[in-house]
Amino acid sequence: MRGSLLLFAPFVGAAVLGPRAGSPDDCPSYKAVNINEQGQSLTADLTLAGDPCNCYGTDLENLKLLVEYQTDDRLHVVIYDAEEDVYQVPTSVLPRPQAHGDHHKKQPAIRFDYQPEPFSFRVLRDQEVLFDTSDTSLIFQNQYLKLRTWLPADPHLYGLGEHSDSLRLPTKNYTRTLWSRDAYSIPENTNLYGNHPVYVDHRGDAGTHGVFFLNSNGMDIKIDQTDDGRQYLEYNTIGGVLDFYFLAGPTPKDVAKQYSEIVGLPAMQSYWTFGFHNCRYGYRDVYDVAEAVYNYSLARIPLETMWTDIDYMYGRRVFTLDPQRFPIDKMRELVDHLHKHNQHYIVMVDPAVSDSDNGAANRGKEAGVFLTRGDDLYQGAVWPGVTVYPDWFHPGTQDWWNDEFSRFFSADGGVDIDGLWIDMNEAANFCPWPCEDPAAYAKDNDLPPAAPAVRDSSPRPLPGFPSDFQPKTSPAAKRSDTVKARRGKGSKAGLPDRNLLSPPYQIANAAGSLSNKTIDTDLVHAGDDSYVEYDTHNLYGTMMSSASREAMIQRRPKVRPLVITRSTFAGAGAHVGHWLGDNLSQWDKYRTSIAQMLAFASIFQIPMVGSDVCGFGGNTTEELCARWATLGAFYPFYRNHNEISSIPQEFYRWPTVADAARKIIEIRYRLLDYLYTAFHQQTQTGEPFLQPLFYVYPSDANTFANEAQFFYGDALLISPVQDVGQTSVDAYFPNDIFYDWHSGATVRGHGAPVHLSNIGITEIPIHIRGGSVIPLRATSAMTTTELRRRGFEILVAPNLSDYASGSLYLDDGESLQTDRSSQIEFEYRRGHLTIRGQFGYSANVVIESVTVLGQNRPPKQKRGVEFDAARHSVTKKVNIALSGPAEVDI
Ligand code: NOJ
Repeated sequence: MRGSLLLFAPFVGAAVLGPRAGSPDDCPSYKAVNINEQGQSLTADLTLAGDPCNCYGTDLENLKLLVEYQTDDRLHVVIYDAEEDVYQVPTSVLPRPQAHGDHHKKQPAIRFDYQPEPFSFRVLRDQEVLFDTSDTSLIFQNQYLKLRTWLPADPHLYGLGEHSDSLRLPTKNYTRTLWSRDAYSIPENTNLYGNHPVYVDHRGDAGTHGVFFLNSNGMDIKIDQTDDGRQYLEYNTIGGVLDFYFLAGPTPKDVAKQYSEIVGLPAMQSYWTFGFHNCRYGYRDVYDVAEAVYNYSLARIPLETMWTDIDYMYGRRVFTLDPQRFPIDKMRELVDHLHKHNQHYIVMVDPAVSDSDNGAANRGKEAGVFLTRGDDLYQGAVWPGVTVYPDWFHPGTQDWWNDEFSRFFSADGGVDIDGLWIDMNEAANFCPWPCEDPAAYAKDNDLPPAAPAVRDSSPRPLPGFPSDFQPKTSPAAKRSDTVKARRGKGSKAGLPDRNLLSPPYQIANAAGSLSNKTIDTDLVHAGDDSYVEYDTHNLYGTMMSSASREAMIQRRPKVRPLVITRSTFAGAGAHVGHWLGDNLSQWDKYRTSIAQMLAFASIFQIPMVGSDVCGFGGNTTEELCARWATLGAFYPFYRNHNEISSIPQEFYRWPTVADAARKIIEIRYRLLDYLYTAFHQQTQTGEPFLQPLFYVYPSDANTFANEAQFFYGDALLISPVQDVGQTSVDAYFPNDIFYDWHSGATVRGHGAPVHLSNIGITEIPIHIRGGSVIPLRATSAMTTTELRRRGFEILVAPNLSDYASGSLYLDDGESLQTDRSSQIEFEYRRGHLTIRGQFGYSANVVIESVTVLGQNRPPKQKRGVEFDAARHSVTKKVNIALSGPAEVDI
């Protein structure tokens, strides 16, 4: 049975324990026959090893097994139906990685072994068993699949999002349900907007590995212990196939890189997107929006990008403007003003289109791109009332979407947006299932109260704007060419005879039945494959994301599109960023945002991520908003946003919040090239820049459950104050040397908490890890355009061996295809800084100074070096062009 490469070896396990009548435990499991090893792969037939148990549907008698060593670090194991009728995630949505062919070493880092009867398998790294399905029955039915793996006691598992639970997942009686849901208030222990069936299993010195279950069906992943205390993780899914990728690690960062090889590297973002964004649901008119822009500038708080929610739409219909409140000429004036001041503008687009007589709906109907039930359009209810939903599988949808974008968002005559916000794409439906009367759930009566007379009837200048403000009633420009497309019919709707509305196994969907508050799961999508919504529900948001990215690219083909979405599936990061949905203005949500952001950035490969700063629902407080302004400055995506019924919360509304914002944005902006460099690195290698502590200190068990602090890049440890009324935090410092950002004071970490006190509400503790060189802009600026004209200060934080290193990536900050860039490496050793690398981009600025922290006395015999006793640092003024190698003695 052993293969020539010893890649595949059977093992002897115990027999499956005796069945219990009437439960999945009755199921007979499978036996492997016709086992065939060829080079790096193994195939076998799996046949049902007893009478079908049909516990949640019908057992499939004949399966196939395919095992492939795809790379040295990646093992692919897939169990699928012999007839290949069962739905699999379309490669058009998530292309599969290719095996690396001849690049294998002789000995892959992880090993597959198996027991032929009853069939089970294990995955091992050396002697460490990473995954083990022995002693459990594998179930493969038409509407239910189950696979259990045993785990060591008290495992450290992370991932399986989207959720708002602890970063390190609970290990007892815990269920993660994956089923996209419009999840106002992001409750714990429920399914939220997106789906990422991947986990990281961290075992300290024994290494880290990852397991990706490529399946888009609804599922419950249970983490629990048996009565006799055996720890397990169990997949219970209502469709698809058992498609697993095992990632060998052995470090957390390795797992991140290996995962990015499957789902794709994240999309690079433009430099400006890392500036500060402001949004609110409930700006009554374009004056209100302009006032917020103006007030930010009066308060001297750098506002990079202004956003507008559905308020701008006429009756909340996508691709329309409210002619009274947001007339086109004033919208264009607003956008021109922003652009003239090097600021940006973003608006929201929802997928659901009002089923009324309007251009986008009419053209979409003509093209046949909306979901149908039989010959009728499928209707739901979202903000504008009765709506129809684009079918992203329809071959004409992309063209129709592109066309709507070029009409409505055109640079000449339309709303010239710089980025896009897509929402409600789980897809959300206010009409509960069965949705018989969508009109009854229309929310158009909730439109904000008509703007008071002083606002909407009297033309007035926009604050800070040059011209008059003359509202007109002309709607956005219209054109009449339509996109024509055909509906295709095919046969790959998945297995027949399934109950697509109420399957026998009910996942723990917090919305109740599968179709409740979303699109009916028995709808059939267009296209030759005739996918059903039951199988593809979890892909809706990601398909809208890639279609929207493409629509943005065809508008502005040369620049990186910023698209921020609510619903995501594995791989979405290659197209878009994500905001974490409708949190509340509460301290627990402020804290939760850290774990959520870390999961998206470091595990799911969606690093452009952040929560609504100051909270979305409910009323924030001055203290919470000030603290959140400082925490949010360390989200990659930094946006203040809240809801229509909450009090306004722009940063200028309270003196302390304004102060906190000014101070922290200054720090964020001085660090913007450090962020840009690390973000770029992740887009090239998958190495995450935002990290939980254990990614940087994988052997330190005290870090494994820490979700109160995080690393912003490898160099900065952020330790936010945790609660109301507090001005101190017990921050954990691993065994290493750190420097206080503000005072330069050294903190010698001993693997214990350090009590940091006197943290005013406008402050946040930031510590630089010894061993880091950080390129800082010498001063901050009001916009990122201005910031890019500032010179650099190179900040050196030596480690205990007086060594440090770091890098700086530079490019034009926006081109989709970057042909000129610089990748500059800094290395510091005992008073000597070396600057090397590739210098392809001329930044037209210089390094103005070099500062070394941790210095207790002035250096001897070094000219031009100034000692700062208070900051324990030395600084040397220099003038080094970023165009070639250089050396500095300091
Ligand atoms: C739900 C989104 O999550 C929220 O951010 C937005 O303000 C509302 N929809 C209104 O568009």
